[in-house]
Amino acid sequence: MSETIRVLVPEEKVAERIRELGAQISRDYEGRQIHMICVLKGGAWFMCELGKRITVPVTMDFMSVSSYGDGTKSSGVVKIVKDLDESLDGKDVLIVEDIIDSGRTLSYLLKVLKDRNPKSIRLCTLLDKPDRRVVKDVNVDYLGFDIPDEFVVGYGLDYAQKYRNLPYIGVVEGVE
Ligand code: IMP
Ligand code: MG
Repeated sequence: MSETIRVLVPEEKVAERIRELGAQISRDYEGRQIHMICVLKGGAWFMCELGKRITVPVTMDFMSVSSYGDGTKSSGVVKIVKDLDESLDGKDVLIVEDIIDSGRTLSYLLKVLKDRNPKSIRLCTLLDKPDRRVVKDVNVDYLGFDIPDEFVVGYGLDYAQKYRNLPYIGVVEGVE
């Protein structure tokens, strides 16, 4: 059977939720500046769209960590592949992630980034699979959608590096 994609969250629903999150974040950070940190590559699509909906001043930085191979199973190992360019000292940091699954990546990242003396640190994720959580110490401050335990692609999320460019969230079918 060949791979097909079933739409889980349509494009308009994603856009609408990102507008709501942007409005909420703008209210919460009134009078402050947000230092958004994108977790590459998947978080890039969400961070750009969310950034457009935030009305307080924003700066951005990017980092890349790896916890997965090319398949759909976690390797359980997290390593920093590309570190941030700028210091976090005294900044109101907002981590922007595509999805939280086991929680291993974010648990590790939060620990590392908290040690860099930010003024505050919050976490925003487009998707969360609460049923899959292994590491319990990851607190999500802003969430797009809770989704069931299915492997999803689109809006930055990949399956073997494919499908990141889909403008909606879909489920890959026809893979074992
Ligand atoms: P965690 O460390 O298990 O929470 O995994 C987080 C990372 O795994 C995410 O940032 C994604 O890159 C990847 N991931 C987890 N679930 C999915 C999925 O359903 N589709 C695509 N990537 C996923
Ligand atoms: Mg990711």
